[in-house]
Amino acid sequence: MVKIAVLVSGGGTNLQAILDSMLFGEIKNCELRAVISSSPKAYALTRAQNAGIPHYVVDKKNYPNRRTFTDAIVDMLTDMDIELVVLAGFLYILTSRFTTVFEGKIINIHPSLIPSFCGEGYYGIHVHEKVLEYGVKLTGATAQFVTKDTDAGPIILQRAVEVKQDDTPLTLQRRVMEEAEWRILPQAISLFCEGRLKIEGRIVKILD
Ligand code: GAR
Repeated sequence: MVKIAVLVSGGGTNLQAILDSMLFGEIKNCELRAVISSSPKAYALTRAQNAGIPHYVVDKKNYPNRRTFTDAIVDMLTDMDIELVVLAGFLYILTSRFTTVFEGKIINIHPSLIPSFCGEGYYGIHVHEKVLEYGVKLTGATAQFVTKDTDAGPIILQRAVEVKQDDTPLTLQRRVMEEAEWRILPQAISLFCEGRLKIEGRIVKILD
């Protein structure tokens, strides 16, 4: 069983999708060891508690800077022997120490079709605001490995979602979650835990 930890900052609907998929046996060979939240107020913590998963708060406010904050998380993950780190709505950029220690072992879900609408400042609802401002007709979600450059790692899975004429950022966010994020994130985790992902440079091959 691959030992995984999920990092969250907010509502945790992607965490819920992971928990539900585990319950239905859709994520194979995986043991969810910990949910770690950057905020004590995150509803994701309640979801972890309801599912009986150990959950911890590493409160961003208690650290002078991003380095000390993410170092504390790296130390926890290392102590717990975590083999895969999942960023499920974790809204902080990782340091190069983090991405080096867990090279090829961090998966992020992003609410757009990368390389569009990504990078610094593109997170959460802001992504959908920018998509609507630009007027693209298709958006979606991307599950990818995390490297030192923001949203630039090798892509594991993507799924497209139609943008409707009367969408607001909130309606679009909900459709992207339902039709794309909550499907491809559990799939990507399962593929990793089954040993079916091979990274070759920028390309991720899915093995049979
Ligand atoms: C999700 O839409 C996720 O893709 C996004 O934050 C939201 C968290 O929702 N992540 C990013 O924008 C990362 N760049 P959730 O807490 O309900 O899963």
